[in-house]
Amino acid sequence: MNKKLQAVRGMNDILPADGRLWLYLEDTARRVFEQYGYQFVRMPVVENTALFVRGIGETTDVVEKEMYTFEDSLSQESLTLRPEATAGIVRAAIEHNFTYERGQRVWTVGPMFRHERPQKGRYRQFYQLDVEALGFSGPDVDAEQIILLARLWKALGLDGMVTLKINTIGDAADRRAYRERLIAYFSQHMDVLDDDSQRRLHRNPLRILDSKNPTMQSVIGRAPRMIDHIGADARAHFDTLQKLLKEAGLHFDIDTRLVRGLDYYNRTVFEWVTDKLGAQGTVAGGGRYDGLFEQLGGKPTPACGFAAGIERLILLLQDSGARITEMPLIYLAFLGENAAGFSWRIAEMLRDQGFFVEMNAGGGNFKVQMKKADAKGARIALIVGDDEAQNQEVTVKWLRENDKTNEAGRAEQERVAVTALPKWLNEQFENTRGA
Ligand code: HAM
Repeated sequence: MNKKLQAVRGMNDILPADGRLWLYLEDTARRVFEQYGYQFVRMPVVENTALFVRGIGETTDVVEKEMYTFEDSLSQESLTLRPEATAGIVRAAIEHNFTYERGQRVWTVGPMFRHERPQKGRYRQFYQLDVEALGFSGPDVDAEQIILLARLWKALGLDGMVTLKINTIGDAADRRAYRERLIAYFSQHMDVLDDDSQRRLHRNPLRILDSKNPTMQSVIGRAPRMIDHIGADARAHFDTLQKLLKEAGLHFDIDTRLVRGLDYYNRTVFEWVTDKLGAQGTVAGGGRYDGLFEQLGGKPTPACGFAAGIERLILLLQDSGARITEMPLIYLAFLGENAAGFSWRIAEMLRDQGFFVEMNAGGGNFKVQMKKADAKGARIALIVGDDEAQNQEVTVKWLRENDKTNEAGRAEQERVAVTALPKWLNEQFENTRGA
């Protein structure tokens, strides 16, 4: 027997019922990003594996165990489905030299792939909104991106559900010295470290700070803190960032253990988190990565960016009971020989005027068509039979409760001449609430 075909584990279908919410989220984000001068870019989903190994870091979880890597059967190159967007954007910036004359603010959206254990809010194909400012060294750009996100949360009605954590992890030299300090410290507590952390001790000791293992918390709590061992420039950068955030009226916590899971960061790191999604509570994360261009063969170019997980934001939006206001849908129901052609012309005429019109397809009597209109959530139905066609009219019927019991005592159903229809619809939609 043939095996039933199903989506790959950890990779989700986005179905019609949720499509509108995804578009609403993406449209809202796009508007906010453009308000800050970020320009849209789109890079390939597949890149050479070396890009991620060099960019994200050999000892990170992502590179060690989460990448979808395969050999191209023709070229025999090792290729990888992108686990994140930053490395690809920096690769493209170097390849096309688009930061040559001035800094560039860019953003993108699309699928990323990580072979993680799927759970709520964590998938193997997931979508990110990704924002990068390339060629800017000052803390003003770090602050701008954090403030931009605060604006996005507000626009989405999620501002009460997320909080901001920031930290500084210093510059590369600070980190090298701190790394040695951490190794020395944790080496004295080998008996407390779990297997994962013992394995990380010499490879990536900063990641031990991230461990959620309860038995290690007290040792981690007493570990030397990065923030106490950073240079004067990184310190000043962090101080200014805090000042700018305060001036913008943003509340934040300094989380001295926040280190992030990718190796390219320096100085500022930040995360927006929620307590509404269980273990996968980080909805957006990012920071500064001044060394990545050089790491990937480009000229030294300071940069800062973040990514937000769309599935997690969708879960939050559903949780918040967000109601999306959309253009009222008009459903065009028709029956009869002459009605069909007439209805097509009406639908196109209304679309010319910017209305949203769905035409009934697949026939059915008026009762059946009205059921379909209702299921679609249409505001109003235009009903066209041969009699209406003959008289160049339509019968209009309100479908939502609020519209039917309108204060003005408007008829639930009436006839309107086609020539008067666009004006009539505009007036009606202005004066009614729907729902
Ligand atoms: P990241 O922290 O690995 O950073 O991912 C950013 C966000 O993507 C997370 O906070 C989360 O919301 C979402 N995310 C990550 N993994 C998954 C998953 N398996 N399932 C669902 N959502 C997920 C980066 O990717 C960096 N490139 C961000 C950045 C841009 N830094 C500088 N520029």
